[in-house]
Amino acid sequence: MKELCFSGIQPTNVVHIGNYIGAVKQWADMQHRYPCMFCIVDLHAITVPQDPATLRQNNLRLASTYLACGLDPKRSHIFLQSEVAEHTELAWILGTITKIAELERMTQFKDKSIKRGENVGVGLFTYPALMAADILLYDTTIVPVGEDQLQHLELTRTVARRFNQQFGETFIVPKSLVQETGARIMGLDDPTGKMSKSAKSSLNYIALTDSDEDILKKIKKAVTDSDGIIAYDPLTRPAVSNLMTLFHHATGITMKDLTAQYEGKGYGAFKQDLADALIAMIKPIREKIEHYMSDPASLGKILDAGRDEAKALAEAKMKIVRERVGLGR
Ligand code: TYM
Repeated sequence: MKELCFSGIQPTNVVHIGNYIGAVKQWADMQHRYPCMFCIVDLHAITVPQDPATLRQNNLRLASTYLACGLDPKRSHIFLQSEVAEHTELAWILGTITKIAELERMTQFKDKSIKRGENVGVGLFTYPALMAADILLYDTTIVPVGEDQLQHLELTRTVARRFNQQFGETFIVPKSLVQETGARIMGLDDPTGKMSKSAKSSLNYIALTDSDEDILKKIKKAVTDSDGIIAYDPLTRPAVSNLMTLFHHATGITMKDLTAQYEGKGYGAFKQDLADALIAMIKPIREKIEHYMSDPASLGKILDAGRDEAKALAEAKMKIVRERVGLGR
């Protein structure tokens, strides 16, 4: 079977180190092993209200972020979801075989709809059918994501199997890929919940565009546990374990070595060194994002090429899907 890796991020608010460590960092490695497609999922972004001018800007900023994090347009197709209309067409078709009860079970929908109260659009509910379409359209075999997307991936697999059963073998049933550590980075101000772009306070996350001063400030203010010990145990020491995970991903130092290194030193020295390590990781990315943003012509060419490649694959697949379903003449 020909392997293909597909993943995407919503162009909303900021990209934070949770997105980086949980997703993009492993994408950069994947592209050396498999053909890859990385999508900017702007149609998913509008499932909650967006300011149009800001959304456009976020699309370009996210494309710049992909490049700044090491995604290489020579190896990977980088493109905007809304520029390949087949995503929405397939989402509609998959929506007809997705059960309401399945969508009602989605944690992300439940969380987001509780926050929004009455103001919940149908798009937020059917969001997983569009995500399934993104993935199945390209005969994707591997989907590298953070832990919060696993439930959507499971539904994608269910829908793919159901379609194949009903209409004949059409879609590959994809596998998800999550990191051993770092698949769920927790909020700096509240380590009981995941780090989130839509958190009320910006102290919850470190964005890839944060200044060195902001990174230091946020780490200094990050919640810690009460016993003052640097040791990895997410159950009893969720705050410090989360900070250790960030440290490990920024430096490669193991949890065991971190514990030995900071024995008896308390949180002060640990936090200062963690901030320095994060600055060293983020600063080059931040500078590259600005570089790509300052050259919209080159960025445009990369997105045009990505769109053309994606479109060719998507058109071919949709011909088969329409025929299987019996659409048209
Ligand atoms: P999104 O935009 O919320 O997040 C993008 C990626 O970042 C991961 N992530 C995290 N990883 C670790 N710790 C965290 N705190 C954290 N927060 C987010 C997410 O798991 C994700 O991998 N529905 C998707 C976007 C999408 C998609 C797709 C992904 C649309 N179509 C097809 C894969 C394949 C989403 O909202 O991700």
